[in-house]
Amino acid sequence: MSDPQPVYLSDYQPPDYLVTHTELTFDLDPTATRVKARLHIERNPAAALSAPLVLDGENLTLVSLGLDGTALEERDYVVSDTTLRIEHVPERFCLESEVEIDPNSNTALEGLYRSSGMYCTQCEAEGFRRITYYPDRPDVMATFKVTVIGDPAREPVLLANGNRVEQGERDGRHFAVWEDPHPKPCYLFALVAGDLCKTSDRFTTQSGREVALEIWVEEENLDKTGHAMASLKRAMAWDETTYGREYDLDLFMIVAVNDFNMGAMENKGLNIFNSAAVLTHPDTATDAAFQNVEGIVAHEYFHNWSGNRVTCRDWFQLSLKEGFTVFRDQCFSADTNSAPVKRIQDVSFFRTAQFAEDAGPTAHPVRPDHYIEITNFYTLTIYEKGAEVVRMLCNLIGWEAFRRGADRYFERFDGCAATIEDFVGCMEDASGERLDQFMRWYSQAGTPEVDAFGEYDYVHGEYRLTLRQRTPATPGQNEKLPLHVPVRLGLVGTKSGQDLTLTLDGESLGKEGVIHLRQAEQTFVFENVAEAPVPSLLRGFSAPVLLHYPYSREELAFLLTHDSDGFNRWDAGQRLSMLALDDLIAAHRNGVEKVMDTRVVEAFRTLLDGEVSDKAVLAEMLTLPTEAYIAEQQRIVDVDAIHAAREFMRQSLAVALRDEFIATYEANASDEPYAPTPEQIATRSLKNVALAYLMAIEDAKGLELCQAQFAAGRNMTDVRQALTLLVHSDRQDLAAPALKTFGEKWAHDSLVMDQWFTVQVTRPQPDVLERVEYLMDHPAFSIKNPNKVRALIGAFTQNRVNFHRLDGQGYRLLADVVIELNRLNPEIAARLITPLTRWQRFDESRQALMRQELARIKKEPLSSNVYEVVEKALA
Ligand code: PHE
Ligand code: ZN
Repeated sequence: MSDPQPVYLSDYQPPDYLVTHTELTFDLDPTATRVKARLHIERNPAAALSAPLVLDGENLTLVSLGLDGTALEERDYVVSDTTLRIEHVPERFCLESEVEIDPNSNTALEGLYRSSGMYCTQCEAEGFRRITYYPDRPDVMATFKVTVIGDPAREPVLLANGNRVEQGERDGRHFAVWEDPHPKPCYLFALVAGDLCKTSDRFTTQSGREVALEIWVEEENLDKTGHAMASLKRAMAWDETTYGREYDLDLFMIVAVNDFNMGAMENKGLNIFNSAAVLTHPDTATDAAFQNVEGIVAHEYFHNWSGNRVTCRDWFQLSLKEGFTVFRDQCFSADTNSAPVKRIQDVSFFRTAQFAEDAGPTAHPVRPDHYIEITNFYTLTIYEKGAEVVRMLCNLIGWEAFRRGADRYFERFDGCAATIEDFVGCMEDASGERLDQFMRWYSQAGTPEVDAFGEYDYVHGEYRLTLRQRTPATPGQNEKLPLHVPVRLGLVGTKSGQDLTLTLDGESLGKEGVIHLRQAEQTFVFENVAEAPVPSLLRGFSAPVLLHYPYSREELAFLLTHDSDGFNRWDAGQRLSMLALDDLIAAHRNGVEKVMDTRVVEAFRTLLDGEVSDKAVLAEMLTLPTEAYIAEQQRIVDVDAIHAAREFMRQSLAVALRDEFIATYEANASDEPYAPTPEQIATRSLKNVALAYLMAIEDAKGLELCQAQFAAGRNMTDVRQALTLLVHSDRQDLAAPALKTFGEKWAHDSLVMDQWFTVQVTRPQPDVLERVEYLMDHPAFSIKNPNKVRALIGAFTQNRVNFHRLDGQGYRLLADVVIELNRLNPEIAARLITPLTRWQRFDESRQALMRQELARIKKEPLSSNVYEVVEKALA
C-alpha cells in the first residue's frame, strides 16, 4: 500500500454535481443495516458537461444501484475502496442506491455505530461516506427526508434531524419519518435509535416561535439532565440578545451517548453529546464538569448559526465555524459566571497546551493549507487559537462594528458554505478597517514572541515603550512576516498606584488603550506621564502571543495588588511565582538547598488577608502555575526538578501560611444544599485550594479536614477533591480505604468510575505505571470507550513524573495502547500520541526512548490518522 497523500487548499474545486434533496431509509439491524438513498442530483452549472459523477463511500457493501428508475448494470459504474464512479449521467437525475453496513463492528465511532445498545451516528467530518454513497463535502447542501425503521421493543425511540412528519407500524417493525427543511451538508446528518427516555421543556423565541426542547438519555440518567436543559435555555436567550439570532425549527433535541470520540456534535436539530458533556448531578459531577456542560451545550447550540445556517466551504475553513463558535461560547460563559475567572482559566490552558502544539512538530496555521487526515485537525489551534483570532478582530473593530459584521455575515451567507475571507470581509465592510495584514493570523503557524522594554524619562515626562515581535519557524514555514498585534495596556503609577492617562501622538487614549504593533519593531512614546509607571501589558491577554518584559519581583508584587485589570493581576502573580520557581529549579539541579522567596509568601499573605474580593479570582491567584505550564517555559524540560520545585513551594507556602489556610477553609465551608451558582462554585474553589495547601504538609489538621470532607459526602466537588488529596498524599493507609469505598459506591456509574481511574493514575508517587496496567484489566475499563481511554491512559500521560520515567516504561505503555487503538479507533489513537511527539523538549536519553517508541509504532500497518502524526513527529 502506498503512503497516504495530503489534500491541498489550493486544489479546491467546486463540486461537479449538487444534491438538492436527499431521501434516506434505514432498516436497522445490528450487523446488517440496509440504507436506501434517493439522491436528487443536478450538474453544477459551472461544471463540464462530460464530468463523471464521483461519490464517496467507505466500508459499504453495494446491494443495488439505479438511475431514474432503471437498474444500473455493473459495467455502468466503478466501485473502489473509497468511491463510486459513474462516467455518464444526465444533467439532472435521481440516483437510487442500497447498501449494507455493519454498525456493531464499527469501533471507529464514525458513521453509524452502536453505543450501549443504541444506534447513533457521527458524520463530521467525513463519516457520512460510511453510511451511503454521497458527495461527502460540506459545500454540497441538501434538504433531507429520513425514514428510520426499527424493532419496536429494542428501539422504541427513532430520531433524526428536523421535524417528525409521520410514524407507524408495519410487519412487526415500526418507523418514523423525519424532514429537515433547512438545506445542510451531510456532516450535519444524525440518526439515533434506542431505548431512551426524555426530559422535555419549552422555549419561546423572540419572534414568538414555540420550540420543544428534549434531552434523551438512558432511563437511569433522567435525573442528570436538569443543568443541561437550564444551560440550553440560557444559551438560546443569550444568542437572541447578543447576536439577534433565534432558533429555526420547532424541535431541538440533545441525545447523550456513552461512546463518543469528542465532546459533542452540532447535528441540525439533533445534537449528539458525549454523556460526559451533558449529564450532571451534584453527587456525581464536579463544579468543573457543571461548567463544562454549560459551555458545551451553548457551543453546540450556537453552531446552529455559526456552522449550520452558514457552514464551511471545505475543511480547511474549519476554524470559520469552530473559532467563531468557541469565541461565542467563551463570551456566554463569561457573562453567566465570573468573567475574569473564565478568561484566566481559558488563557492558562491556552498558554500551556496550544503554545506547546504551536511549538511542536504538528504545528499548523489556524487555516492549514494541507492535511492528510482531517480528523487530526480538530486541534487547539483551530479551536482555541481560532477563537483568540476572532476575539482580536472584535477588540480591533469594537463590539458594535463586530456585531454589524456578524449580522452581515449571517445574512449574506445564510444557507451557504463560506470561507474565512468571507467572514473577515464582512468585518472589514462593517468597520471600514483594513484587515489584510491581520489575515496573516490565519496563515502563519507558531506563537509570536513579543519582547517589550520600557523607559521612563523624568525630564520630559515621557514613557517610551519598545515592542519587538518575531515568530519562530514552524515545520514547512521558515519565513514569518510581522503580524498585526493589538496590545491592550495601562501604565500604573508607582506613587499613586493608579492607571495614568495615556497620551500617544497628542491623542488621549484614556486610562487604558490598545496600541497596534504592526512592524517587527516599534517604539511608542507616551507623553505627559506624571510619574514613573509600571506597564501592565497585554491586558486580558489581548493577543495570543508570548510576552517578555523584564519585570522585577518588586514590580510584579506591585501589579499583583494594584493592576486594575483582573487578568493581569493574576498574571503578575504567575510571573512572580515563576521567577521564584526558576530559582528553586536551579537549586534542585545544582544540588543546593532550596530557599523560598519570602516575597511570594508575603504576596500570598496579602491575598489571603482579603485583598481580593472575588473568591473565584482569589482561588486562581492562590494556584501555582501547573507543571505543564512551567515545562513550557523551559527549552529542555527537567521533569523532576519542576516537580520538586513546585512541591517545595507549595509546602513552604503551607508551612508559612498554615493558620491563614485553616481560616480560609473554615470561613468557606458551608452546609447549603448544592447549586452550581458562580457564588457557590467560587466558595468551594477557595476552600478546596486551602485544603490542598494544608494537605501538602499532611499535618494532623489538614488530614482531619480532608477525611471529614470525604466522609461528609456533600457533593462530588468536595468528595473528589478530598479523595484526590488523600490518594496523592503519602498516607496510603488512609487513601486505600477511601478509594475502595468510592469505587464500590459508584461501580454502577460509568462517568464516576472515569474519575476514580483518573484520581489514581495522576498521583505523583512512583508506583503509578503498575497501577495503570492493573486498572486496564478492571471490569469498568474498556479500550473501546474513548472516555475510559482518556480517563486512564490520557490522564496517565499528563502525570509528568511517571509518564517520563527514565526507564521509558511510560512511553512503552502508551505506544502499546496506540498500536492497539490504531486498529480499533484511529482518531483516538492519533490524539493519544501527542505527548510522544514532544520529544524535542526532553533530555537526550528521554528523546531516544520516545523516538524509539514512535519508530515502533511506525512499523505497524497504520491508519492514515496515526501515520500522519507519527510521520511529522519523526520528520
Ligand atoms: N463539531 C464538533 C464541535 O466542535 C466537534 C466534533 C468534531 C465532534 C468531529 C465530532 C466529530 O462542536
Ligand atoms: Zn464546535
